[in-house]
Amino acid sequence: MKRRHAVIGLGRLARALIPALRQAGEEVVVGRRSPGPGELMPAEAAQQADWVWLTVPDDQIAATAAALSWRADQLALHCSGATPLSALAPAPVAAGFHPLTLLAGDAGLAGVHVGIEADAAHRPALQALAQAFGLVPLVLPSPMSAQARAGYHAAANLAASGVLAVLAEAEALWDSAGLTRSDALPALAPLTRGALDTALARGLAGAVSGPIARGDTGVLARHLGALAAAGLADDLLLALGRRQLALAQHTGRLDAAQITALQALLASP
Ligand SMILES: NC(=O)c1ccc[n+]([C@@H]2O[C@H](COP(=O)([O-])OP(=O)(O)OC[C@H]3O[C@@H](n4cnc5c(N)ncnc54)[C@H](OP(=O)(O)O)[C@@H]3O)[C@@H](O)[C@H]2O)c1
Repeated sequence: MKRRHAVIGLGRLARALIPALRQAGEEVVVGRRSPGPGELMPAEAAQQADWVWLTVPDDQIAATAAALSWRADQLALHCSGATPLSALAPAPVAAGFHPLTLLAGDAGLAGVHVGIEADAAHRPALQALAQAFGLVPLVLPSPMSAQARAGYHAAANLAASGVLAVLAEAEALWDSAGLTRSDALPALAPLTRGALDTALARGLAGAVSGPIARGDTGVLARHLGALAAAGLADDLLLALGRRQLALAQHTGRLDAAQITALQALLASP
């Protein structure tokens, strides 16, 4: 069934959503605070639509929903993994459609998972739309508890920006070794990609490698020594080392003596 969609707020998410909707054969009107040619004010756009997407900053979703007049046959949607559906309470029915991706530049939505939070009446249509976009639908509990939502969003954030924090630490170590800082990211990123590709093929435990997975305590001790000599904090390396050790233990590659020696080196100071 063809629907008319209003997309309110033309930011990064909307710039990927609108072409995906149009390619899927859906009609789209765009609502903006300062409309350009062919665009409408938010209230005018929403009035014309069956489904109203509020693609505004998370903190603006509730106020934007409250500023619109809703008809009983409309569905309100947001794309925020962190925001409860109660932010859309002024609408008669609400749903969440949260692509697990970081949109930058011209990147589209295809290939990523999308968390769908919807009642049973709207879930099939949202799943079908996700599939039409080339997304992998991931049905979230509905209603989703505040704790579950926070955990889900924290997992997504750790998988994206958390990895950046790890790479920042790697860059600092690279720099402390006297190497050119601007070489660090291009040289190290393929290692991150390779580890991810292996993890997708073999699971996280199957992909873990390096001195901890091999039980090379001498190498690990030299890593920690390098941090100390450079005056860098060792908290992240120790915490990540303990997590790597837990993964390595799953594989059964380490004997009891190696595990004890690694645990001693990785113990918090
Ligand atoms: N970017 C991502 O990678 C990504 C991924 C998954 C989910 N999301 C979700 O998608 C939603 C939109 O994120 P985004 O990254 O597209 O944000 P964005 O690039 O900052 O765009 C948000 C748009 O909302 C409008 N806006 C800005 N301030 C506003 C205000 N004070 N009141 C009302 N409207 C305002 C603006 O559009 P106009 O100038 O046209 O009014 C702006 O372009 C968020 O809920 C976010 O969590 C984003």
